[in-house]
Amino acid sequence: MKSKEKISTFIETCYNLKPEKLFMSELKWKYLVRSAMRGKNIMILGSAGQGKTFAVQCLVDALDRRADYFYLNMGATQDPRATLIGNTHFNKNTGTLFDESPFVKAIRTPHAIIHLDELSRAHPDAWNILLTPIDYIQRYLRLDEKLGSELVKVAEGVSFIATANVGNEYTATRVMDKALLDRFTVKIEVDLPSPDQELELVKLHCSDANMKIMDNVTQISAMTRAFTKESKLSKFISTRSVIEMAELTMDGFNLVELAEMVIYPDYPDDGGVDSERTLVKQTVQKFVTTAATSKPIYNATSGKGGNPPPF
Ligand SMILES: Nc1ncnc2c1ncn2[C@@H]1O[C@H](COP(=O)(O)OP(=O)(O)OP(=O)(O)O)[C@@H](O)[C@H]1O
Ligand SMILES: [Mg+2]
Repeated sequence: MKSKEKISTFIETCYNLKPEKLFMSELKWKYLVRSAMRGKNIMILGSAGQGKTFAVQCLVDALDRRADYFYLNMGATQDPRATLIGNTHFNKNTGTLFDESPFVKAIRTPHAIIHLDELSRAHPDAWNILLTPIDYIQRYLRLDEKLGSELVKVAEGVSFIATANVGNEYTATRVMDKALLDRFTVKIEVDLPSPDQELELVKLHCSDANMKIMDNVTQISAMTRAFTKESKLSKFISTRSVIEMAELTMDGFNLVELAEMVIYPDYPDDGGVDSERTLVKQTVQKFVTTAATSKPIYNATSGKGGNPPPF
């Protein structure tokens, strides 16, 4: 472990360790690194596809902690006891056997980084089980009572990092338990990039993407964010979807096609002209028209008028 001075010098200069591909402010990155190094409970909050999971991956690499990194997808947990504590098996020759969960192994590992991904989607039983191990004072996990109520102590320097979706558009996201939320003393909300910043990200993730089309896409994405704020849309186009579309442009897809395949299906079309889909279509259309004015407009029905607009 690093000494006190070494830790503060490391934190001061840690922005150099943030990969360029991750969009996160210097202060948030510094807070994230510092909190992980101090064994704090961290919760990264934000909408879907805005880099929460990616930020944890970047952190683990920056701190060179792959060896002590444990990943649990809490959103996919069907049986919280089995995932977080373990399973008991009965064998008539050897009797009752207890199979420890990977989580138990993780909390026994000094300086482990335990990533509780999608914690907001976890079963409430999972939240209850987590209350004592993540508590800064209690720091234990009680195993199955039938096995003598063994307590597993959380090893020194263990850091829990959870990710959670916020926003009322997430129906699968339960309202998280207050006691659990309170134990995550470090909360970091991911930033939403501006169109220019998102275009920069596209360049870094997908250098061969068609930047003309992506310039339009990032502006459309920003407009969906504004509409979400005004409650005209229930969700906005995520950075994940923007990067997905950048990849599609490398394979020759144009803006109209991207919109059909990636953007529109995310928006309900019930309500006809007042539907979310109509609003998004009108938004995309503005960019298609602007881009196509210098060329004959292709008519998809008649097939006349030249090639389909490139963007
Ligand atoms: N802030 C960002 N910086 C860099 N890349 C990003 C960012 N946000 C999203 N991306 C891109 O989108 C992909 C998906 O991001 P990620 O899986 O981290 O989203 P998430 O916030 O965890 O979403 P979910 O809530 O659906 O789990 C990343 O692999 C990356 O390519
Ligand atoms: Mg995620």
